[in-house]
Amino acid sequence: MKLFSGMQPSGDVHLGNYLGAIKNWVELQKGNELMLCVVDLHAITVPQDPEHLRQRTLDLTKLFVACGIDPKKTTIFRQSDVAAHSELAWILSTQTAMGELSRMTQFKDKSQKGGGDSASVGLFTYPVLQAADVLLYGAEAVPVGEDQKQHLELMRDLAERFNNRFGETFVVPEPKINKSAARVMALDNPAVKMSKSAGTNNYISLLDDEVMVAKKIARAVTDSGSDITADEDRAGLYNLLTIEATLTNSSLEDAAVKHKGKGFAEYKKHLAAVINQSLDPIRSGFEKLTDQEAEAILKAGGEVAKTQADDKMTEIKQKIGLN
Ligand code: TYM
Repeated sequence: MKLFSGMQPSGDVHLGNYLGAIKNWVELQKGNELMLCVVDLHAITVPQDPEHLRQRTLDLTKLFVACGIDPKKTTIFRQSDVAAHSELAWILSTQTAMGELSRMTQFKDKSQKGGGDSASVGLFTYPVLQAADVLLYGAEAVPVGEDQKQHLELMRDLAERFNNRFGETFVVPEPKINKSAARVMALDNPAVKMSKSAGTNNYISLLDDEVMVAKKIARAVTDSGSDITADEDRAGLYNLLTIEATLTNSSLEDAAVKHKGKGFAEYKKHLAAVINQSLDPIRSGFEKLTDQEAEAILKAGGEVAKTQADDKMTEIKQKIGLN
């Protein structure tokens, strides 16, 4: 099966990104054709420092590899290296209604934080570019966390609409959401999702050191209960158990049963050790890779992507009368 996914090179990569997306990609690259895009054009929908953006793109590439993405199997590339993404986004934007985009909850959240009317037009049309990313390559499924569901629905609508108006052109992709960690919640507020744009106590970065991980888990919000149970109403604890269960590939119930009788402090020490064990190879793998190696991976991936994307653009332009 052909799969496509992407991640923004903005801010730290955290456990939510890892458990909701990257960890699944590592499994899915076995036996599927996977394309992973470092979406730098999406990142600039909010202000970015140019030097940081350049470095974060390389660092994200290194992190993918350190997490187990094999660049020999999987095409990893930089979105801005393939001009067809922007070109198709423009074409798709002519087929998208303003109302559809104003209903996007991520736009509503982000534009509110960024000052309402002063939010960029790029932030508004963000989901159209995301649709272009996937539709260009004929991907059948898109492995993402739950927060991308609405963007995927719009993508499917746009593909179907285009096919109806201009004839069969795009594969209509399915979302592929991993149930076990579809939405990892913030450590300091289990009512909201873990997010790189929130404060650092909100998330564990994949590059946090052992002491930092232990500190953040020790501070994580739980409740006034004293026992360990997998109960959705106990959101903070439930989130911690979800993190443990997903990292250790076990069920939530098994994780809870294992810790029956322990207090929160003891459980949190155990969980910090589990997280550190998973992050150890990622931290060291990241350090081993150079910027030049990351650049070479992106360049090779970009060439593969460009060939496919350019062919598709020729077909699309023909369908709508642009050539
Ligand atoms: P981004 O960079 O915000 O996040 C990357 C991936 O991480 C998942 N994720 C989470 N999963 C579980 N719990 C969380 N707390 C959590 N936070 C983030 C996201 O669901 C995502 O899968 N718009 C996309 C990037 C993108 C894309 C694409 C994805 C651009 N083009 C094409 C798929 C296909 C985004 O902002 O992801």
